[in-house]
Amino acid sequence: MTKSLLDRVRGCTFDDFLFTPQLGEIPSRDPSVIDLTSSFTSSIRLRRPIVSANMDTVTRAPMAIVMAEEGGIGVIDRGYRPGDIDPQIVEVAAVKRTQHGIVTDPLSIPASARVGEARTAMHHARIGTLVVVDEDGRLAGLLTERDVRFVGDQVTVRDRMTPRQRLVVHAGRLTWPDAERRMVDAKVKKLPLVDADDRVIGLVTSRDLIKHREHPFATRDEHGRLRVAAAIGATGDFLERAAELLRVGADALVIDIAHGHSRVMERAMAAVRARFGDVPIVAGNVATAEGVTFLIERGADAVKVGIGPGGGCTTRLATNFGVPQVEALVRCHIAAGDRVPLIADGGVKRDGALVQALLFGGSTVMLGSAFAGTLETPGETVLKPVVVPESQKVVQVPFKVFRGMASVGAVRDRLDLEDADVDELDAIGAEGLEVSVPARGSARTVVQNMLKHVCSAISYGGATSLDGLRQAFAADPERFLVRLSASARAESFHR
Ligand code: XMP
Repeated sequence: MTKSLLDRVRGCTFDDFLFTPQLGEIPSRDPSVIDLTSSFTSSIRLRRPIVSANMDTVTRAPMAIVMAEEGGIGVIDRGYRPGDIDPQIVEVAAVKRTQHGIVTDPLSIPASARVGEARTAMHHARIGTLVVVDEDGRLAGLLTERDVRFVGDQVTVRDRMTPRQRLVVHAGRLTWPDAERRMVDAKVKKLPLVDADDRVIGLVTSRDLIKHREHPFATRDEHGRLRVAAAIGATGDFLERAAELLRVGADALVIDIAHGHSRVMERAMAAVRARFGDVPIVAGNVATAEGVTFLIERGADAVKVGIGPGGGCTTRLATNFGVPQVEALVRCHIAAGDRVPLIADGGVKRDGALVQALLFGGSTVMLGSAFAGTLETPGETVLKPVVVPESQKVVQVPFKVFRGMASVGAVRDRLDLEDADVDELDAIGAEGLEVSVPARGSARTVVQNMLKHVCSAISYGGATSLDGLRQAFAADPERFLVRLSASARAESFHR
């Protein structure tokens, strides 16, 4: 990318451009055959360039699971009170335990425990199988959700488990394909792995096998578990939080603050690097060449780009600082070169903007409001009366809340300011909105539709893969760029 492209996009964002259609080269726009592989960090590759935002109304375990299954990744937010690290750990652990691979540290319960305890453990970790161990920690049996259904809390686990002698057990470690073969041959749904002392060293379930088949593009770690990233702050408990997140298997830390080009960030990155070595660090947010260079020089493995384009964001209104997102991406991409991937964060309101974010400099795209109201977002669904314009009838419509992480509500929840008066809340200087959005279906459908549209864009762009389209665009942006007049914008996007 060149300086002339930067001149072309100054002051511009997504709705300022269309791309000129090129000679189509691909026979099919099917996402299962078009390569969309992109880097999330220097070491983590995604088959799909989609990242769900670390916002407390967007990404908790259910969202992160869907993202990783679909080939992207979710970033679990840190929207919890300072010192309250456990809730975030639970979410990360739930993603890592979901399924998809050999569970190397399956949850265990003593045979002498009660069913009530087992039920709580299963519910807490969102899993359906516990390994039962004797007093010496040796495999005694397996207990599944079905074993405890309709059973009183006081019954002992020993009385409900399938005992060791009725299980097929494998001694030693196994590769994923061998585990699959072993389970198919033995016709079992669970395969515990034990060491020479009969201590449990892993568990494979048929759900894992099925999931592998169902989600061929999923983002997995070396053990076959889903990958997940997690946000930490730059002050307060961030080091302790990072240690705990890494302990339960977080694949990357996202040091996310509103103004990433700052001394606060510099100190935080140095501290995280000093303590945790080469763990993948995503840092942000920035919107300038100086900002991105600053973060790369301090060891970021990926940089989040976007100051103020977010759907729940009022930074530009409140402070007048920010850079239009397309200009920001181009500036940062020119500065970063191939040193680290950029994450285009915020402002994608329609699927067409996704491919723009990916061509103007984003290796991946982070989305918040695009997932608002989906099944996997946290928070309650509330019914609100809405008047249908055609019939003037009042119907009850389900809504969910979507809010910026710097909105008064999010900050209040985080800082334990329930009793704060109006002046105190004003003093927070909120830079985020809180809105109700209609509840809708799964984020999985949203992602799948996005990917279809990205593949269609690749076809219109005359390429055969996302990387191919990127290269063609970078080589000759003028061939693609159409700058829109106000009426062309209306013709294109106002429906
Ligand atoms: P979209 O447009 O996908 O953007 O909803 C998601 C991104 O918005 C940012 N974000 C905020 N920015 N004040 C801000 O200035 C806020 O309260 C706020 N909450 C989220 C964030 O970068 C997110 O990934």
